[in-house]
Amino acid sequence: MIVLGIETSCDETAASVVKDGRLVLSNIIASQVELHAPFGGVVPELAARQHIESIGFIVNSAIKEARVKLTDIDGYAVANGPGLAGALLVGLNYAKGLAYVNKKPLVGVHHIEGHVCANYLDSGLEPPFLCLVVSGGHTVILAVDDYDSYRVIGSTRDDAAGEAFDKVARLLELGYPGGPKIDKLAMTGNPEAHHFPRARVDGFDFSFSGLKTATRDVINRLQLPIEDIAASFQQAVVDVLVGKTLKACDELGYKQVAMAGGVACNKGLRKSMEEACRLKGLPFFMPQPIYCTDNAAMIASRGYYRLKDGISDGMELNAYPGRMV
Ligand code: KG4
Ligand code: ZN
Repeated sequence: MIVLGIETSCDETAASVVKDGRLVLSNIIASQVELHAPFGGVVPELAARQHIESIGFIVNSAIKEARVKLTDIDGYAVANGPGLAGALLVGLNYAKGLAYVNKKPLVGVHHIEGHVCANYLDSGLEPPFLCLVVSGGHTVILAVDDYDSYRVIGSTRDDAAGEAFDKVARLLELGYPGGPKIDKLAMTGNPEAHHFPRARVDGFDFSFSGLKTATRDVINRLQLPIEDIAASFQQAVVDVLVGKTLKACDELGYKQVAMAGGVACNKGLRKSMEEACRLKGLPFFMPQPIYCTDNAAMIASRGYYRLKDGISDGMELNAYPGRMV
């Protein structure tokens, strides 16, 4: 089954053609980073306008690069929440048009479930497994017991991990988006230069707002090299993410671990999680960085598993900007 996925929930206009939920035939992404950088964050109205400009070209490019014809496409998957309302509507309505005209099924995809499915791309992972999803808007541990079953085991009580990276980057005047910049600086810094607090939250939940405040205090009070601050902050985030995920795995008896979302690009996190899983003898999966940040291949994969189970949506499908897992 060949599925065309569309993703416009935030600041990436993306389209992708994926075969049988795993084989990526094309993956086209137009990033709006430069458009939003001067504002220090995503401006919703500008994001929606840019999606309108890009969507036609991006979808056509995905079809062309996959070397398929429109008639080869068996279904259309689109991220319809959570995300920015105006941005989501651009992709949703484009997908509706394609599905209607070509008389093929349409399926709405939860953006976070899409992130999880990035782990199926070019890989042999099968449920059950635990997945840590760390993005700009979410930090959740999900129990994935089947292709259509996603259960929240823990989530953040305040800031998402990506949000913490972006806010600390702003404090360090590194610009937007901050995650990749902190990651790069941390590579040459000393992670033990300062011991930031690891928030003690019950169960498998997270909290990152205290860490952000502590970092502000260190920046203002101590004359530490910026690389050391970045490395020490990153270490604190990584320790908590790895620690909680493995604790959940242990206590709930899961035998495989996966990771997803933009922050899963982080080199320190990738290395630590891989090492911790190796020590515990747990198979560990993480998507290539290009499938960690927002993309449409993950949406096509999630859509495939819904369509395969006979699930599809009608033309009344709507966008759900605030939708939770
Ligand atoms: O999944 P994503 O592309 O979009 C959302 O669904 O939010 O995640 C974006 C987030 C941003 O906060 C960005 O700073 C962070 O992922 N990020 C990183 C890295 N690359 C992206 N954070 C830490 N290290 C990175 N290398
Ligand atoms: Zn995302």
